[in-house]
Amino acid sequence: MGRDAWYGRDVLSILDFSRADLELLFDSADSIVDQPVRTKKSLAGKIVATAFFEPSTRTRLSFSAAALKLGADVIDLSPDVSSLLKGESLSDTMRMLDGYADLIAMRHPSEGAALLASEVASVPIVNGGDGSQHHPSQAMLDLFTVKRLKGRIDGLNYAVLGDIRYARSAASFLYGLARYKPGKVSLVSPESLRPRNEVKDTIKKVGLKTEQHDDLESIIADVDVIYMTRIQKERFPDPNEYEKVKGSYRITKGSLANAKKGSIVLHALPRTNELAYEVDSLPNAAYMKQARFGVPVRMALLDLVLGGAKK
Ligand code: CP
Repeated sequence: MGRDAWYGRDVLSILDFSRADLELLFDSADSIVDQPVRTKKSLAGKIVATAFFEPSTRTRLSFSAAALKLGADVIDLSPDVSSLLKGESLSDTMRMLDGYADLIAMRHPSEGAALLASEVASVPIVNGGDGSQHHPSQAMLDLFTVKRLKGRIDGLNYAVLGDIRYARSAASFLYGLARYKPGKVSLVSPESLRPRNEVKDTIKKVGLKTEQHDDLESIIADVDVIYMTRIQKERFPDPNEYEKVKGSYRITKGSLANAKKGSIVLHALPRTNELAYEVDSLPNAAYMKQARFGVPVRMALLDLVLGGAKK
């Protein structure tokens, strides 16, 4: 299938993509990282729309930067000054963007919003996060970061830490890992932040074996990739529940003292207090590189979805 597998497709969940699809994306992103000066503007004449109904720094701006680097133009829907304020529906809004752009990258607080958009728009929809559900391009750049920094994804031991209940980046990362053959995958979180049934069921369905742990300390010496998450305060239905768990886990220099040599710490960012700034100076800290890989991975993604079967 090759590039045909990507061309014109919606990117709603990483589960819609096979290992071969992901490998093609990573090969393309590798060549962008290795040859950053591009003479060919493969998306010249195309328009990419961004429509973010929730705050974002990395996803929105790295999609814009990726599109601009490929020669596309970018238009941005700012929900706070759009006709949504006059009561226009999400589906009508997406129908409008469908007429103005060749691809729409969007984020919405409601689960299923990107799926709804894909049903009313004829152009590809890229889900930049829908509620607690999916964040496929984040998982793609996370896996790319592992492959780039560790040389492989298979056979490594992973610990996913923190808010695995509400963090779509954690769920999407686990779904992406299911396309590979990881070693041990440990989920480390307080009881109330363990995966929702829906996530547990999906992990089971895709055949990813996981172990539940209460703390990182007991397993850290054996972990190659520590995937940290922020507590998703904005997704707690009850603020009292958030108060009970806030500050319940944190990575510091001290907590990495027994970390495996060569292990890396990932975080989709933004961080709050779960990841101490003192960790930034350690060789394990890979999250800033990870965020920077957002541009080449999203360039590769846009080129595959919009660029056709050329090359
Ligand atoms: N990682 C991530 O989705 O960051 P933003 O919320 O800033 O887009």
